[in-house]
Amino acid sequence: MNNFQYYTPTRIVFGKDSENEVGTLSASSGCKKALVHYGGASAAKYGLLDRVYRSLDESGVSYISLGGVVPNPRLSKVHEGIALCKKEHVDFILAVGGGSVIDSAKAIGYGVVNGGEVWDFYECQRIPIACLPIGCVLTIAAAGSEMSDSSVITNDILGGVKRSYANAICRPKFAVMNPERTFTLPAYQSACGYVDIVMHTLERWFDPKRTDSELTDGIAVALMKTMMRNALILKENPRDYNAAAEVMWAGSLSHNGLTGCGGSGGDWSTHQIEHELSGMFDVAHGAGLAAVWATWARYVYKSLPSRFAKLGVDVFGIAGEDEEKLAILAINRMEAFFKSIGMPTSISELGLDLTEEQVKELAFRCSFFGKRKLGSFYPLDISDLEAIYRGVW
Ligand code: NZQ
Ligand code: ZN
Repeated sequence: MNNFQYYTPTRIVFGKDSENEVGTLSASSGCKKALVHYGGASAAKYGLLDRVYRSLDESGVSYISLGGVVPNPRLSKVHEGIALCKKEHVDFILAVGGGSVIDSAKAIGYGVVNGGEVWDFYECQRIPIACLPIGCVLTIAAAGSEMSDSSVITNDILGGVKRSYANAICRPKFAVMNPERTFTLPAYQSACGYVDIVMHTLERWFDPKRTDSELTDGIAVALMKTMMRNALILKENPRDYNAAAEVMWAGSLSHNGLTGCGGSGGDWSTHQIEHELSGMFDVAHGAGLAAVWATWARYVYKSLPSRFAKLGVDVFGIAGEDEEKLAILAINRMEAFFKSIGMPTSISELGLDLTEEQVKELAFRCSFFGKRKLGSFYPLDISDLEAIYRGVW
């Protein structure tokens, strides 16, 4: 097992009616004036914002609001939030929504405290010294941003460049998680979340330096099996509370670092390949991951078939001796799971008919304009990336 650090400072308040705790939690986090940050219609439509405001009022926490965060959250909204927080002397951000809202809140938090252009952090040109404290009221099980150190922003000013930035200083102080909140999600959006949760564990699983990690592998296997089983229950009955609770908790544990302890960081190629797709075409993150993963897997599995074979044996219960055959069967089974929940498993099924020019542009952007090879499992150069965007292996 490799040396590692595991840091999860986020207090989780989980279960029915947990939204009512948000005022007390904000006050005890030292909040004097909060920005309540949210997305489009859902938070108001289903009564969540009213409950949040009531709880803040009861705890004597003052607040202002800024809605309008869209999926694949935009830098222009982050700029708006930074200006508003400075003008109103906000000292805390309460994100009410999913990964997009939480990520926008983290970016605003960086921008308010550090000054200068916040996009610099996402381009790795500067390192922030602090972030405004963040609290979350989670409404979708998916990105895991409620416990993660990451934030992913799309620069709409540069025409759709999507970049992530990771730093432990943005990890939320608390996350309020009521699984009932996810009952109102459209089925497609829920399925996108299920893919993202599985993928956060898979990205860490395909780590060439993670060899002797029995416990971490066991946690990862339990997480993926729990996720897939409960996703299928929720497909039949989206209001099954226990299944929704299992999935919501899996979403947080899948991306708070737990399933990577003892590894060397994981691969993350599928995520990076997807980020270019959602930056350029505004597709839903989870759907983009499902569209790309099997092509990536078939392209790279020969560099270490044993890791794919272990996935097949431990997660899907496939038996056999031949590692390459087991690896192929494991890829087929994961792809079948994505299909079973209505997700695309190719870029064309995602609704995109990429031109050769677009393939080259996506690969070029994904290689950070020719400056990097991508991933650790099988480092991909520009021509590898082009092949994956073309859907060939
Ligand atoms: O805007 P509203 O009206 O709220 O609708 C949202 C949005 O359209 C809707 N929704 C959310 N909760 C709902 C609901 N609709 C009905 N009922 C509810 N309870 O769902 C749509 C998607 O929301 P979004 O926040 O975009 O979803 P998700 O949590 O999947 O976040 C995706 C973003 O997170 C990034 C992705 O790249 C993408 O930009 N990621 C962030 C990560 C991180 N910070 O650690 C890691 C991930 O790998 C990911 O890259
Ligand atoms: Zn993700």
